[in-house]
Parts: sequence; C-alpha cells; structure tokens
Amino acid sequence: MKIPADQEKIAGKSDTPLLKIHGLKRSYRTETVSVDALRGIDLEIRQGEFVAIMGASGSGKSTLMNILGCLDRPTEGSFFLDGQQVSNLSRDELASVRNKTIGFVFQNFHLLPRTSALENVELPLLYSSEKLSWKELHKRATEALEIVGLSERARHTPSELSGGQQQRVAIARALVTRPSILLADEPTGNLDSRTSLEIIGLFQQLNRDGLTILMVTHEPENARFAQRVIVMRDGLIQSDRTIPPRSAAEALANWKDVDEDQEADYDPEVSESPGDAG
Ligand SMILES: Nc1ncnc2c1ncn2[C@@H]1O[C@H](COP(=O)(O)OP(=O)(O)OP(=O)(O)O)[C@@H](O)[C@H]1O
Ligand SMILES: [Mg+2]
Repeated sequence: MKIPADQEKIAGKSDTPLLKIHGLKRSYRTETVSVDALRGIDLEIRQGEFVAIMGASGSGKSTLMNILGCLDRPTEGSFFLDGQQVSNLSRDELASVRNKTIGFVFQNFHLLPRTSALENVELPLLYSSEKLSWKELHKRATEALEIVGLSERARHTPSELSGGQQQRVAIARALVTRPSILLADEPTGNLDSRTSLEIIGLFQQLNRDGLTILMVTHEPENARFAQRVIVMRDGLIQSDRTIPPRSAAEALANWKDVDEDQEADYDPEVSESPGDAG
C-alpha cells in the first residue's frame, strides 16, 4: 500500500526539519481572563517521524497542534514549516499553506452527517487551489478511501458506519489533499481499545509510507506505538524521548490473548458496526 503523498515537495531537503518552532508562546486574553497556554516552546520535527504528544488536560496540546496546523497563530516566537517562516503569514496565506501541507484528524471525526463517505472525502478538494475535474476529484477520493480500507463503504453516510469506520473516513479526508503532515488530536478518544489499535495501525502504515504524523493522546498505551513521545506540562515541554515503537499489527494479532481481560470494557455501542449489516 502506497500513499500518493507528494514526496517530491520535500525531497532533497532532508536536512531541513519539516516543522521547527522556537520560543513559541500563545496567550489567550479577554477582558476577564488571561491564559498563557504555551509559554515558550522549542521543537523540531523531521520528515517521516511519528510523534505522540501527551500531557494533562489543559497543558497546551491542542493549542500547539492548532498552531502547527496553521489554524491559529502564535503570540510570540517563530514557526518554520518545511523551511518557510509561517508565523507572520496573513490569514489567507496561512490557509493556503494549511491546505497544501496539513491533514487534520479530530476526536469527534467532524464528518458531514447526511453526506456519503465519498462526498465527505471529496470535500477538501472542492476548496483546494488544485483545479480538478469532477472525474479526477472522484478518483482521488476513491483512492483515499482505498488507502484506509473503506472502499466498500463509500456510499454509506456516517450514521451507517461504526466509530472506527467514521474515523477512517476522516483520515481519508485528511489524506485526499496529499499532505506532508498528519496532525491527529486524540484521534482514538472516542474509540474502544481494539478499534483504537486498528486506527494506530493505519497510522503506522501511513508513516512507513512516508507520512509525518503527530498524534495527541491521553493513553500511554497508545503513545508506545510512536517513535518519539513528547510530554507537555503547563504550556511547556516537560520531556521529549525517542522510543522503540511497538507494532500495532503485532498487538492486534495477539489481541485474543488479552481479549478476556478486555471483556469488561466491551461496549456494544462503540464496537458494533451497523454498516456491516449491508
Ligand atoms: N480559546 C481560548 N480562550 C481562552 N483560553 C483557552 C482557549 N483555548 C484554550 N485555552 C486555555 O489554554 C490552556 C491549554 O488548552 P488546550 O486546549 O491547549 O489544552 P489540552 O492540553 O489540549 O487539553 P485537553 O487534554 O483537555 O484537550 C487551557 O488552560 C485552556 O483553558
Ligand atoms: Mg486538547
């Protein structure tokens, strides 16, 4: 399985970190509150890394992801994306960089409810600067659904899909613009442990094919599948370690061994897949 990522964009630039931030601060100020969500962060992420970001609630993980994903701008500090300084770009310029380079996945999937999986995946291409024909657009979305193993569910709406399948659609939607980086903010937060493992297995596959991945997670168990674990605390990086990643495919293969222990956690609401009926 190959992701059709536009690797040429970054070829020959392997010395340049894909993401580089220095002295990054983000404060939220209103008349009544003032919160220093990020208090001076230095970080470099290289192409091809799979990084887990952990830390207590409120430690600044989402704030950092939003800035790295060009959804938000820092109050202070510099941010280079693939060698280009982006911290001073205008809103429109930022949106353009974001659409070309970044794919986002969220805890709540954020799919359009009465819209098919395929149409959900096509959506980012409608807003992209690439002027694709309908045929090309359809082809790209179909390929993205194939990558996440959901071709058979292309015509299903989100309510006809299990949580794990919905997250796969959301991942296909993130991949369809062929980003260099996938940013996932608690992508398995709404999924049972086995489905989480499947989604992380998909991330490992995409990562092996060259995609750089940053994943926020509350579960130390999930972080063990990344190559590097960053822990945030009070708006700062508390630790940053490289680890030998576990294989999600292996963990899944051995799943039966622990199945009985997991039985108590079994939640039919989450695990059952209505889409499988048809
Ligand atoms: N729009 C905002 N206005 C004011 N304060 C905010 C805003 N967004 C976040 N904050 C504050 O910034 C801090 C960091 O929030 P952030 O959402 O980044 O935390 P987090 O690590 O993602 O937490 P969680 O694990 O609960 O998702 C928190 O104290 C939060 O209350
Ligand atoms: Mg958060």
